[in-house]
Amino acid sequence: MNVVTTVIKSRHSVRKFKTDPVNDAIITDALECARHAPTAINHQPWLFGVIKEKKILQEIAGFTEHGKFIADCAVCFAVFGEKAETYYLEDCCAATENLILALQAHGVCSCWVAGDKKPYGEPVRKLLNVPDAYTLVSLVAAGSPAEIPIVQKKELKQVAFYNSYKKE
Ligand SMILES: Cc1cc2nc3c(=O)[nH]c(=O)nc-3n(C[C@H](O)[C@H](O)[C@H](O)COP(=O)(O)O)c2cc1C
Repeated sequence: MNVVTTVIKSRHSVRKFKTDPVNDAIITDALECARHAPTAINHQPWLFGVIKEKKILQEIAGFTEHGKFIADCAVCFAVFGEKAETYYLEDCCAATENLILALQAHGVCSCWVAGDKKPYGEPVRKLLNVPDAYTLVSLVAAGSPAEIPIVQKKELKQVAFYNSYKKE
């Protein structure tokens, strides 16, 4: 048993939250973990927004297609990437996963909500006064879980191969 792999395997996307707030020290630690993610040529081409105000959460939720539950989360993180950076998407996705796993390690559940490729990226950026050089990559709604749905994962043998791929 390893504490990190146990945290990784215990994570599930949560979309229903209790009203309890998330401790500021946990939020800061999750942001610290996000900024420690690997990045191409160490450019760290990101900006992390932390949204707790109900009115702003409701506005963000209203823009999304499949993120209406953001309106009722305790805190929503918005990860923005510098558009001019070739690997901003990979870098910001690595940061998003670090953020989610750090929250999980502190007992805070969350759900990644798509930002990149979504038409609501621009309205969210403008709402949060983020400069035009950035684009929304992901939103992460977080809080204490009211419900934890467990989804089926593919078996390892279906998705991994060693040395050379052979069709079963
Ligand atoms: C890039 C990305 C975008 C996602 N966007 C949404 C979303 O818009 N709304 C949502 O409810 N879940 C979203 N999810 C969460 C997935 O639905 C979820 O990870 C998947 O169903 C597997 O469940 P699990 O996270 O519990 O393992 C997204 C996840 C990823 C990685």
